[in-house]
Amino acid sequence: MSNTKYQTMGQQFGRRSWAEPWKIKMVEPIRMISHEERQKAAAEAGYNTFLMRSEDVYIDLLTDSGTSAMSDRQWAGIMMGDEAYAGSRNFYHLEEAIQKYYGYKYIIPTHQGRGAEHLISQAVIQKGDYIPGNMYFTTTRLHQELAGGIFVDVIIDEAHDPIHQHPFKGNIDLDKMQALVNKVGADKIPYVSLAGTVNMAGGQPVSMANVKELREFCDRHGIRIYLDATRMYENSFFIQEREEGYADKSIAEILFEFCSYTDGAWMSAKKDNLVNIGGWLAVNQADVAEKARNMVVVYEGLHTYGGMAGRDMEALAIGIAEGVDDDHVASRVRQVRYLGKLLMDWGIPIVEPVGGHAIFLDAKRFYEHLPQDLFPSQTLAAELYIDSGVRSMERGIVSAGRDPKTGDHRHPALELTRLTIPRRVYTQAHMDVVAESIKAIYDVREQTKGLKMVFEPEYLRFFQARFEKV
Ligand code: F0G
Repeated sequence: MSNTKYQTMGQQFGRRSWAEPWKIKMVEPIRMISHEERQKAAAEAGYNTFLMRSEDVYIDLLTDSGTSAMSDRQWAGIMMGDEAYAGSRNFYHLEEAIQKYYGYKYIIPTHQGRGAEHLISQAVIQKGDYIPGNMYFTTTRLHQELAGGIFVDVIIDEAHDPIHQHPFKGNIDLDKMQALVNKVGADKIPYVSLAGTVNMAGGQPVSMANVKELREFCDRHGIRIYLDATRMYENSFFIQEREEGYADKSIAEILFEFCSYTDGAWMSAKKDNLVNIGGWLAVNQADVAEKARNMVVVYEGLHTYGGMAGRDMEALAIGIAEGVDDDHVASRVRQVRYLGKLLMDWGIPIVEPVGGHAIFLDAKRFYEHLPQDLFPSQTLAAELYIDSGVRSMERGIVSAGRDPKTGDHRHPALELTRLTIPRRVYTQAHMDVVAESIKAIYDVREQTKGLKMVFEPEYLRFFQARFEKV
């Protein structure tokens, strides 16, 4: 087992470290621009890290989406692209890989995750339906709302508490599910939107016990379960590490079992599946697959490429198998934890336990003096960039958007700044630089004054909103 491999030779030096299961074959130079240039770049981008040029960034922790380093095997796969309009052989490789590792029947490729979210939402949601989920994700909820659905958060309360040590903070609260069924009726609930490792909660996992219980509940009420499988490899790692009976199972076995309790999944392949672009929808119901295939040709591309080039599908099919490897997932999560430990040792407030893909700085506790309407996590992301050229992302009041009914800001309990670690890209030395920069801005936190929003787009405002210093 990967968990014990590094300890088999004894402990004579007092420590035995783990290391990445790869070596570096090609490098991409990066550089840090001057402090003055960073201040200018931040102001020009309206203090929104999404509006910055990547060339002005030193260490880019904006997202783990599409930012993975592909392997030599994946690049070799790129050369094997079959760019036929219809029936590319790469599609069949992709289909086989998804069926083998995730176990679903019908596969529909899409350009990325939100393409698949669009298809599933339009295929199964009727106007006025309720969609319960373990905390929202920005694009997921928006597609559910655009299809006429009403999202209801049914995650356990512990998920909204940044320091609660619950090992599976992504779990669904079945009492909240029951209350929703009692209130609106099961026939108004087409499916549960279940995410493996909950991004907005800090990358927190769902337990196998929880998905099993949810399956039983949903079977009793005739409700389906569709899985956001975007970071299910990482979720499987936490099950292996924390849940009784899974320590000797591989990530692949855990993944397959977990998916078997669900009716289908949508995927942003830009994360776990180790590609720079791509996504897919996979379902077990022929009628849902047919509806989605009807739509994929309108919005994405033919049902055997869905917006991806043949070569992209080949790299994806290879990435699916590489990403599920035990040593890979373990080193990925351990790198995230390495950064988390440095910060915790300095008393810097982060979401605990550390999740799978990112460290989430708790901006409410970081800037205790700033009210949420002065955008503390947006401010923190801006300050971090100015200090060291490290790019992070707001995941708080700006991301939460406005309530579609009242038009007011939603005030989420969690006001976080995300440091997202790309897969197979940065070293621990990069993590040290990041941690030290955060410590530096933490030491002068009381001098920081916050931001005001001066431009607000209608949809997914966090991507393009602009701010000025207060
Ligand atoms: N679901 C989850 C849990 C995600 O994190 C994302 C994307 C999507 C769906 C949508 O997929 O981007 O391929 O269209 N998350 C990125 C992030 C953007 O930075 O967390 P997509």
